Amino acid sequence: MAKIGIGMIGLGGAGGWGHFPGYTDIPEEAKIVALCDNVPARTEAKARMTGAKAYTEYEKLLADPDVEAVDITLPHYLHARVALAAIEAGKHVIVEKPFTITVEEADSVISAAKRKGVKLMVAENTRFVEAYEVARKMLDQDLIGRICYAEAYIGGSEIPRLRDPNSWNGKVSLAGGGVVMDSAVHSFYLLRWMVGKMKTVSAFTTKFMDELPIDTETNAVAIFKFENGALGHVANSETTEHPWTEQMQLIGVNGSLVVDMLAERPLQLYSTKRKSSNVTMGWSPYGSSSWEEPFIYHSGLEWKSRSMKKEVQHFVRCIAQDTQPLVSGEDGREDVRVAVKTYESVKTGRPVDIY
Ligand SMILES: NC(=O)c1ccc[n+]([C@@H]2O[C@H](COP(=O)([O-])OP(=O)(O)OC[C@H]3O[C@@H](n4cnc5c(N)ncnc54)[C@H](O)[C@@H]3O)[C@@H](O)[C@H]2O)c1
Repeated sequence: MAKIGIGMIGLGGAGGWGHFPGYTDIPEEAKIVALCDNVPARTEAKARMTGAKAYTEYEKLLADPDVEAVDITLPHYLHARVALAAIEAGKHVIVEKPFTITVEEADSVISAAKRKGVKLMVAENTRFVEAYEVARKMLDQDLIGRICYAEAYIGGSEIPRLRDPNSWNGKVSLAGGGVVMDSAVHSFYLLRWMVGKMKTVSAFTTKFMDELPIDTETNAVAIFKFENGALGHVANSETTEHPWTEQMQLIGVNGSLVVDMLAERPLQLYSTKRKSSNVTMGWSPYGSSSWEEPFIYHSGLEWKSRSMKKEVQHFVRCIAQDTQPLVSGEDGREDVRVAVKTYESVKTGRPVDIY
């Protein structure tokens, strides 16, 4: 099988520990042929390890004919600019979340990719987290009935990064926002995938630690009405001390699904619909309900990097097999749109219609 030639732009956190090993783990299918970071020390060892060329200017990587597909893990303000340049150079593109920092930028990247006929994928790792994949299958089997309420939480500590005055995080001009743009977009994707389109948002944010040299919010709560009548909320914090983690609860009329990435078994199902469970039986007004904790290969510290590897491997296979990526530019645009509306609600102090 021909190997896809990958050019990676940005070898900091996400590029370095998330995407890079995703490609090197599938040497039969992908070869990293070029690396670019404006800090040369971030590419040197990886270039030696893979035999890739190392650049400090992304324009040079984009001019390299060996590069068929470009992986962008850069500060947010560069996403649209570099994605557009890569598409114009005829490369397939995977770009980290948030896809862009405005809806207009998202539109221009989507239409450029269509015009040039290249693959465009947003690196939304949420779609590749096993616990969520299994939860989605349980919803497809109608195990919890109609969802009336949904919540998603993402939290951890970004305090060291936010304390650094040289960091791009914490600056609206470079990051497009704070925890909403950086983290909540994952939760927006997740709840859209699990529940459906959000219709209205009402949100609050705070910059929780006044001493941080930042002009972005560190904590956010957004309450949603969904198009299908469900209610829900998304909560995000960058100022808490536990391993970076996520939680989700979906409450349906016949049961509920609970995800806790710090638990050994990250997914629990309570359902009046599945009677064959070999686990515990509980009580509900409708009779007995089953309680299951399906086995999922899981580590509280590794689930994120595993999902990031899976996402870039999916991108490679979409190119090789000429199929559409599971997370499209339109998906990324939708999450940016919800983020923009969330900020509008914070600013106006009122609920804002998303549609
Ligand atoms: N999916 C996830 O869970 C997840 C996790 C972390 C980060 N991310 C995303 O990944 C992206 C990068 O975040 P990060 O935490 O890796 O940031 P980072 O600061 O650690 O890495 C960014 C890299 O880009 C390089 N860079 C900056 N400007 C450049 C330029 N003009 N040309 C070449 N290189 C340049 C920097 O030197 C740095 O090495 C962001 O979009 C972020 O939201 C996603």
